Amino acid sequence: MIRTMALAALLVAGFTVNAAEEAKPKADPAKGKVVAETICVACHGVDGNSMVSAYPHLAGQGQDYIYKQLLAFKSVDGKPAARNNPIMAGMTAALSDEDMKNVAAWFAQQQLKPAMATQEALIPRGQKLWRAGDAAKGVPACAGCHGPAGKGLPAQYPALAGQFPEYIELQLKSFRSGERANDPESMMRSIADRLSDNDIKSVAEYAAGLR
Ligand code: HEC
Ligand code: HEC
Repeated sequence: MIRTMALAALLVAGFTVNAAEEAKPKADPAKGKVVAETICVACHGVDGNSMVSAYPHLAGQGQDYIYKQLLAFKSVDGKPAARNNPIMAGMTAALSDEDMKNVAAWFAQQQLKPAMATQEALIPRGQKLWRAGDAAKGVPACAGCHGPAGKGLPAQYPALAGQFPEYIELQLKSFRSGERANDPESMMRSIADRLSDNDIKSVAEYAAGLR
């Protein structure tokens, strides 16, 4: 009898959760495309393949990761944004929560054009850091969180494969200086702290060439 009641309670709880899930509107990539076409296109392209390394590729990036970064760029109630970037602060200022979810869904569905590593001399060091880390320096393998092929792991760990090496380098240096500090539990700051300039260049070049 008690077991039956518990089961019934569980079923009711389960039902309520499902009803709440259904009531929540799903991100709509078609609406996101309109945002991309009107605002993001100038720098990231409509399909998230950017033309210039200062503007990261967004095509195929994890939906939750894109949304998290947009939230981080946006300053709310005049408080400093969690991820300080004047350009993206301006871009997110006018976006609603729904816009951010929709545009994240749109870019996540796009196909990233593959890139190639061009600086061959940097590859061996970059590959070592990516696959094995550097135990002597206390650096863990990037692959452990970003995946062996750099595809990332939803929802927390961004894809890096095919990204501009200059952008990866810039972000690693911002984590190292602490200027970018929106990584959960200082995960990236504590790693970047242990990387030399040459380590950063090498691993950025290697990650960019992954596919
Ligand atoms: C005027 C150029 C410009 C426009 C327009 C623009 N961005 Fe950006 N975006 C940038 C720059 C520059 C960065 C890199 C910021 C940094 O270095 O931290 C960036 C970074 C991002 C990132 C972080 C990516 C990552 O890998 O962490 C996301 C997400 C993003 N933009 C989304 C958007 C969306 C969505 C729009 C349209 C609503 C948009 N951007 C419009 C310039 C732009
Ligand atoms: C313990 C897990 C972990 C490991 C190991 C790790 N990362 Fe990360 N990395 C993260 C997380 C989490 C984020 C997202 C931070 C955020 O939410 O803003 C991130 C973000 C990044 C970014 C920013 C990407 C973007 O699009 O803005 C770069 C670049 C990066 N990592 C490079 C590396 C490199 C190179 C290594 C190896 C030397 C590495 N990471 C190892 C967890 C990890």
